[in-house]
Amino acid sequence: MSSDNKNKLQIEEDEKHLLLDHNYDGIQELNHPLPSWWNAMFYAGIIFGICYWAYYSFLGGKTLRDELAVEMTVVKQAQAEYKLLTEAYKPEVFEQFNKPENMEQALAVFTDNCLQCHAENGRGDVGPNLTDDYWLVSQGTPETNYKVVYYGSEENGMPAWGEVLSSEEIYQALVYVNSLKNTFHPEGKEPQGEKISE
Ligand code: HEC
Repeated sequence: MSSDNKNKLQIEEDEKHLLLDHNYDGIQELNHPLPSWWNAMFYAGIIFGICYWAYYSFLGGKTLRDELAVEMTVVKQAQAEYKLLTEAYKPEVFEQFNKPENMEQALAVFTDNCLQCHAENGRGDVGPNLTDDYWLVSQGTPETNYKVVYYGSEENGMPAWGEVLSSEEIYQALVYVNSLKNTFHPEGKEPQGEKISE
């Protein structure tokens, strides 16, 4: 029975005490317990897991979702502040663009975004005539025009451009609109709103 010999458990002298005293069909085993450091980590892991679960499930620990919410309020606040800063009309920016050499660009912005409703030279179509001295929502000044352009008058069909155009484009459009003021286009749309002469 040489194969028996081959399969026979090789037990070193110093391992004899580890031999478990059972024998299943000739199979015996040595008891090699896990090292205590391994057990320590294992149990520490379980304890940590229970604490972690309890802390985040019941004890009000901040989850990633909560942290995101906190960060988002900070971001929203920063955005709101930035918006306030950019949405206020700034006369010095208007003046910066209000130069003859800039008119071509100002016209381009108007053509791309405003022409469809206010027509060539702002004589008016769906939108009111911008060349007369009657004004519906604004008072015809760059500052009051800025408000209408930025926030729109959407229930009456004037889109809010504050979210669409860059700040520069809005000022460009305002510069062009300002250049139309009181040019009284001969084919202009009939006056709408109140007469404002200054
Ligand atoms: C979809 C059509 C439409 C487009 C595009 C449009 N407008 Fe208007 N706009 C209107 C209408 C309609 C009004 C009148 C709103 C009201 O009666 O409340 C108006 C009003 C205005 C007014 C105030 C006029 C007044 O009499 O008080 C200004 C200024 C103006 N638009 C500028 C612009 C500029 C600049 C652009 C391009 C960036 C533009 N609009 C694009 C339809 C449009």
